[in-house]
Amino acid sequence: MSMKGVSIGSLVQPDRVHRSLYVDPELFERELDQIFGRAWLYVGHESQVPNPGDYITTQLARQPVIMVRHTDGAIRVLHNRCSHHGSMIAGDRCGHVASVFTCMYHGWTFRTDGSLVGVPVPEDYEGTGFDVRNPRNGLGSVARVHNYRGFVFASLAAEGPEFTQFAGGALLGFDNMIDRAPDGVEVAGDCFRVIQHSNWKIFLENMFDNVHPRIVHQSSARGAKTAQQRFPAGAANHISLETFRLLALDQSFMQRLEIENYPWGHSNMSGFVSPRGQDAEWLAYEAVLRERHGEERAEQILSRNFHHTMIYPSAVLQPSFQQLRIVKPIAVDRTQIDIWLFRLKGAPKIVFRKALSYANGANSPSNMVSADDFESYYRVHQGLAGPGSDWVILSRQMGRDVVENGTVRTRVGSSEASQRNQFQAWRRYMIDEDGDAR
Ligand code: FES
Ligand SMILES: [Fe+2]
Repeated sequence: MSMKGVSIGSLVQPDRVHRSLYVDPELFERELDQIFGRAWLYVGHESQVPNPGDYITTQLARQPVIMVRHTDGAIRVLHNRCSHHGSMIAGDRCGHVASVFTCMYHGWTFRTDGSLVGVPVPEDYEGTGFDVRNPRNGLGSVARVHNYRGFVFASLAAEGPEFTQFAGGALLGFDNMIDRAPDGVEVAGDCFRVIQHSNWKIFLENMFDNVHPRIVHQSSARGAKTAQQRFPAGAANHISLETFRLLALDQSFMQRLEIENYPWGHSNMSGFVSPRGQDAEWLAYEAVLRERHGEERAEQILSRNFHHTMIYPSAVLQPSFQQLRIVKPIAVDRTQIDIWLFRLKGAPKIVFRKALSYANGANSPSNMVSADDFESYYRVHQGLAGPGSDWVILSRQMGRDVVENGTVRTRVGSSEASQRNQFQAWRRYMIDEDGDAR
């Protein structure tokens, strides 16, 4: 599709966006530079690298990176690219180096802060101008790194807002999940990984779409309702069944969800399912939190029921169930989602069992609800690929939002305020200072 002569700014209007945003390969390339190349993106959690030399690998926009704990105890985010001929230094998803990274191609070695240690046959470089002893010829570091209460974010751009200013109100969701943990949080196991055959933005929009569940997930909800009847009322391990059943409720339940939207495209959505129970083990957990935080604060933490917290464009957290989904765009019609589960340290086992049940039931690649969603993402992408009609309509509840200090608040769950906010951020990232990119 040729976008020549069309301004990027005009593709996002207050009530609609142009279909090319989802299917144009040129716009996708530009998104990698302008959005994923500049925003603060989630890298990993500090519990994945507990000891010096521990590392994980991931990808930020097009850049493969290594998150590693250095000997000084600090976490570094290095380019996973040998300074010799460019080979990735670490090819596995996680690991440990006793002292140095060794490149598998010609054996250059690097410390865990990226500095160069040595090369084979150093005399080959004598008189060439390349100084083997200069530690600056090491692995590059990602421009900016911020460790927010254990959650490591990075920006590939040297310039831009500081992390906490960027994330704004979305940090309330991260705080809530961390505050639910008596002794901090840690990653549990490896992630689920899925590749969706659709554009990355379709996934993020769907996180805050509260009209689709009752339609798309009808059959899953019916199945859950039947299955739930086989368990005793309030059975703690079957929170995912409860979640599915609620999806089938009448729309007025969904309308009660509250959504807050912030600058740079982020959102929080509150309401929906709470993990709170009345069984002895759960009540014992609440007692631990009251002991740590006092009655009032503990009640505040437990009753703040965030369902989705999004730090646009890379992270969607479910604080009440300790799930984190990370968005990695691969191509204009391919999106990798890594789904992480966290454990609240110091909490009784029941808390983790509920989170695990939710992970398997609602977020694993094989569950019924995700399959419903993936099918709609695929169909949306396919439908938008053809030139039948140019616009996607996003005007539900438009004009009824409350705007306060840059926060757009809606008390009607079906509002598309989040989607509109995401695209306003998209536009801001994509256009140049002079207002147009072309
Ligand atoms: S590419 Fe790494 S040592 Fe040559
Ligand atoms: Fe859904």
